[in-house]
Amino acid sequence: MSAPESAVAPATAQALRSPTRIVIIDDEQDMRASISQWLSLSGFQPETYASAEEALSVLGPDFPGIVVSDIRMPGMDGMALLKRLMGLDATLPVILITGHGDVPMAVEAMRLGAWDFLEKPFDPERMADLARAALKARALALESRALRNELADGSTLMRRLVGNSTEMVRLREDLLDYGQADGHVLIDGETGTGKTLVAHALHAVGPRAGRKFVSVSCAGVEDDALAARLFGPVALGGLPLVEEARGGTLCLEDVEALSPALQGRLLTFINDQPAPPATRIVAICNDHGPGRTLEDVLRPDLYYRLAAMKLTLPPLRTRGEDILALFKSYATDYSEEYGCPAPDLSAQDAAYLLQAPWPGNIRQLISIAEQAVLQNRRGSGSVVSLVMAENEASGGALTTEGKPLKDYVEAFERTLIDNTMRRHKGSIVAVMEELCLPRRTLNEKMAKYGLSRADYV
Ligand SMILES: Nc1ncnc2c1ncn2[C@@H]1O[C@H](COP(=O)(O)OP(=O)(O)O)[C@@H](O)[C@H]1O
Ligand SMILES: [Mg+2]
Repeated sequence: MSAPESAVAPATAQALRSPTRIVIIDDEQDMRASISQWLSLSGFQPETYASAEEALSVLGPDFPGIVVSDIRMPGMDGMALLKRLMGLDATLPVILITGHGDVPMAVEAMRLGAWDFLEKPFDPERMADLARAALKARALALESRALRNELADGSTLMRRLVGNSTEMVRLREDLLDYGQADGHVLIDGETGTGKTLVAHALHAVGPRAGRKFVSVSCAGVEDDALAARLFGPVALGGLPLVEEARGGTLCLEDVEALSPALQGRLLTFINDQPAPPATRIVAICNDHGPGRTLEDVLRPDLYYRLAAMKLTLPPLRTRGEDILALFKSYATDYSEEYGCPAPDLSAQDAAYLLQAPWPGNIRQLISIAEQAVLQNRRGSGSVVSLVMAENEASGGALTTEGKPLKDYVEAFERTLIDNTMRRHKGSIVAVMEELCLPRRTLNEKMAKYGLSRADYV
């Protein structure tokens, strides 16, 4: 595989640019003009089309914007257009404009995946609000899709980077930046926070994707043996690891275990390389011991050489909402693997998951998700009891470290909407009724929590 730099960068840039286009479709010239005028007055960039057929020529799967369409039109009508668009891209927000008394049609439109509908004559203020929320949801959907595709391009491993907390969003950005920058990187963080995964991702999103990724642990090996493995000489026919990884990445796990002498040799090796380096070093610190920092375990000169690009992965207990997203993602995977439904999280389950101390971080959470699925298959036990048992085993207490009340409230809200949507198989109307929520509030909350109607239908 050749350097995929150009393949990675444009997709990222596009994902970071917010979608702004609003395609307005109406066979009536006056109607088109007035909607368009209102939206431009509100600061949007509307474009008008007299028929669905005409508009389809500019609409595609990753269209950077949203659609506002009349339902009744000669030729392809709004419902047929909606079906076509949902087939192209189920996350494209489509706002339909219905004539007075077309309520059954509007309900059907929502069922098919319309973002929302407006009844004529409509309040222009509300149109602008709807458009704003729809564009925001579009931005989120496109961004996450671009990242997914991009990361999958480099490595299917990266598909798995779950979470939308501020830390996680930041981590994705750093990951892409550092991956592209193609220099040495230092990764730090508690056990199970994703350091090894991130090291692979750094390689996969950079220009070395497809080249060698050589991993070695610096712990538990005699100094001389490790020195020979890394730098040579090695037995007949073999290559020292720094050579084997030439053109690619050498991942040094447990870098804290390197003796001062070997740290010195590593520094010399790094300093002797041109830029960008022939062999990229990604060093992972897995344990700097209680009360000590990375700077205490590495020679300062090596530390500063590596720490120009440093990633510190946050402990799971501080990652709020990500905890639930990760749990769900892994529970879904395991339920597919074991061929049984994923457990429904109750609000109480969610609260426990959020408050557990997670000393084993994501690795521990994955194991709980698997146990929860197996328990569900047997029809016994609860997620709460699993978390409690795990806590007792590790002697940990529940914690609210780093998480404001808002996180719990939001997690509760998200869980509730998610469960209700699932129960009603994506029927917005039924969920609105059950939760006594106006449509708009429900739409906004779903956008906020990254819930998509299409996932429940
Ligand atoms: N952001 C994430 N989303 C989903 N899974 C993750 C994420 N980060 C880590 N994982 C998974 O968690 C487990 C532990 O990650 P790992 O990289 O082995 O942690 P570490 O090297 O820090 O101990 C792995 O199964 C990994 O795939
Ligand atoms: Mg690891």
